[in-house]
Amino acid sequence: STTPAVVTVTGAAGQIGYAALFRIAAGAMLGHDRPVRLRLLELPHAVSAAEGTAMELDDGAFEQLLSVDIFDDARAAFDGAEFALLIGAKPRARGMERADLLQANAAIFAEQGEVLNDVAAADLRVVVVGNPANTNAAIAAAHAPDIPPERFTALTRLDHNRAIAQLAHRAGCAARDISRVSVWGNHSPTQYPDIFHARVAGRSGADLATDRAWLVDDFIPTVARRGTAIIEARGASSAASAASATIDHIHDWVLGTESDDWTSAALPSPGVYGVPEGLVCSFPVRSVGGRWEIVSGLEINEFSRARIDASVAELAGEITAVGDLLPA
Ligand code: NAI
Repeated sequence: STTPAVVTVTGAAGQIGYAALFRIAAGAMLGHDRPVRLRLLELPHAVSAAEGTAMELDDGAFEQLLSVDIFDDARAAFDGAEFALLIGAKPRARGMERADLLQANAAIFAEQGEVLNDVAAADLRVVVVGNPANTNAAIAAAHAPDIPPERFTALTRLDHNRAIAQLAHRAGCAARDISRVSVWGNHSPTQYPDIFHARVAGRSGADLATDRAWLVDDFIPTVARRGTAIIEARGASSAASAASATIDHIHDWVLGTESDDWTSAALPSPGVYGVPEGLVCSFPVRSVGGRWEIVSGLEINEFSRARIDASVAELAGEITAVGDLLPA
């Protein structure tokens, strides 16, 4: 399509926003032939920083970038949005309890859900990156009664890509030689990167998984705790990889997954694979005709079942903790 895409990015002056915006402007997200209008939402104190980023976007002279507008008001920023990249969130402050973090973010995402319901384009697609991403997406969806819930997704593509990277190192192959990795559950340390259905350079993931010591003590914790390892090494949390995964997520949602492969994304559960309806849970997904479809019919062994159940229990607990922000 050559109709301009209206893309609203929240937390645009943050480090993920900074890394994402230039690649969106360059066509990495929606294809090089799709013009883009960027709408940046920031907190008032960060508007000046966003203006600096907009100056740099101008200076990229990107062929498909038609406009960049900056807002500190959600209703204005989301007006006509076809894509909402919800990256901005309240970070965990020192001494803050997890329940307080959940509550503070639930209030933000409840408001953004309401506003999206009122002013976004009819074909809106949302990806929540700001943590706790899954539950923030569930809250936003619950406050947008006129938007189909499956348009609200949360990012687990970074976890998916991290799992591919670790498998590539293990097998001594390239990322492109790996397919059918699945991430289940919450974007948190309880997430379960599942290789039992994967294909790894001509080998089956199930074959690699027979080395249970490697699977349990190395692969799964390395993927799940990669964010912490990056903070320790870099002195800052992952930003460019998170931006890249966000772009991959929207790219595949709109333009489709590779035939014979799938990816991972968190979507409101329709009640499959033992995940209660409505929890925003990561599943293996394919994009067909611009819609995510959960890959059906996968056999879940006992090893996987226990790990999926543990992460789903955590998601259910998060929803309980923000219960009063969910409409009855
Ligand atoms: P950052 O702190 O550099 O930037 C966040 C930006 O959001 C700030 O500029 C802040 O002013 C803005 N912001 C906060 N509340 C806002 C609101 N209500 N409306 C608009 N803007 C708002 O943080 P960074 O590194 O860019 O990360 C952003 C979020 O992404 C964090 O919550 C982080 O935990 C999460 N994250 C999620 C990942 C995932 O895979 N799902 C991976 C990495 C980070």
